[in-house]
Amino acid sequence: MIKTQKYIQENKDLFLDDLKALLRIPSVSADPTFKKDVKDAAKAVAKLLKGAGLKKVKINKTKGHPIVYGERIVDKNLPTVLIYGHYDVQPADPIDLWDTPPFEPTIKKTKNHPQGAVFARGAADDKGQVLMHVQAVKAMIATKELPCNVKFMIEGEEEVGSIHLGIFCKANRKQLACDVVLISDTSIIGNKTPSITVGLRGLSYVEVEVVGPNRDLHSGVYGGAVANPINILAKMIAQLHDKNNKITIPGFYDDVKNYAKAERAALNKAPFSETKYKKDLQIKEVFGEKGYTTIERTGIRPTLDVNGIWGGYIGEGAKTVLPSAAFAKISMRLVSNQDPAKITKDFTKYFKSLAPKSVKVKVTPHHGGHPAVTPIDSKEYRAAEAAMKKTFKKDVIPQMGGGSIPIVALFEQVLKVNVVLMGFGLDSDVIHSPNEHYGLFNYYRGIETIPYFFEQYCS
Ligand code: BES
Ligand code: MN
Ligand code: MN
Repeated sequence: MIKTQKYIQENKDLFLDDLKALLRIPSVSADPTFKKDVKDAAKAVAKLLKGAGLKKVKINKTKGHPIVYGERIVDKNLPTVLIYGHYDVQPADPIDLWDTPPFEPTIKKTKNHPQGAVFARGAADDKGQVLMHVQAVKAMIATKELPCNVKFMIEGEEEVGSIHLGIFCKANRKQLACDVVLISDTSIIGNKTPSITVGLRGLSYVEVEVVGPNRDLHSGVYGGAVANPINILAKMIAQLHDKNNKITIPGFYDDVKNYAKAERAALNKAPFSETKYKKDLQIKEVFGEKGYTTIERTGIRPTLDVNGIWGGYIGEGAKTVLPSAAFAKISMRLVSNQDPAKITKDFTKYFKSLAPKSVKVKVTPHHGGHPAVTPIDSKEYRAAEAAMKKTFKKDVIPQMGGGSIPIVALFEQVLKVNVVLMGFGLDSDVIHSPNEHYGLFNYYRGIETIPYFFEQYCS
């Protein structure tokens, strides 16, 4: 891969220009106002794939946002690596909290990124990480060092649950046939501490509505005599955890694996400073399920969190109102064998049982996803490990990721191959938040590392 590495060093500026151009397109999948931008981003990705030397590049329409495909078949007897990623991004809100505009990529230095980082929505999640693969494959094709076949599938609905991607995969099994799926959409522990994510949590996401009287009421005239849906909702939510912060939904933990002492000890060996963690978040104390460490709470334990709550009067000043309804969005992160459909059903039943007769409760399920655990004794894990070891010159640590990538479990099930989660972001890159950024070090390190994965895996 000597020629490939040389090509990469010579094209660093161009690679960065490509990233900035893609980051200027506000491809927010959740908001229909950005529908055309999402389409434009798909077109831009397709163009980059063509420019990298991929064949059969196609923008596949779906009932939602398009899926971009491209491939380069060197020899059909050689293995095939399928690269998956997403070009859609989270909404930029709250826009006011951004120091520079979210869709005007700006390079700035930070404590964790002394060489500079590009600030923009989608920089780390996932445009920067997708482009690392495009550039790495471009370099291997240009130098005739691509050692096996490669397919790209870059979607536009990851941030909204990958609903149409599942249908696409099932309908195009043959086209997507591969030996491994390689994804960069996760984090490493630090720029001097490389790691590979070996687990992702699943997700069940619901919206709840608690309705009391048929209209908003005067909180003096009726207050005290009619159930206040916000008071009731708050009380219902409070009952979803017990005093040890365990989730109280009956059966919730039935399919959660209890890790053996040795496994937990191994997990907790990963470098982690609680002091730094607290300092970074400006909290005095961490919080969570009793009996578990922070690493365990985000890696191997499920959660239930209110993501948003509203109702009544939230404008300027005071308005004395007893609201007719209250709402909340609730996410549950799932682990081991927890099934999102079952959890949603169990939640709905239990949540409704917590309500007094004075209110009506409605639960609307949103997207979900299965948890996934990837093996570390596989050829593909070892290839990723060796590739990272080569560029970072450090041992690589397996790590459980707290986030979710809903399609991963489906890849394993439908394409019947292992997935490797070789991401290069940092947790401090604040994906989904204002001032998301991606380190230039991480972008280039990813581009340099990916060819070594191919070399290791395909030899
Ligand atoms: N790339 C993230 C997931 C991620 C980030 C995993 C960091 C591990 C470490 C992905 O784009 C994401 O945000 N997924 C969503 C799920 C989706 C259904 C909205 C999530 O985890 O909230
Ligand atoms: Mn992502
Ligand atoms: Mn995301």
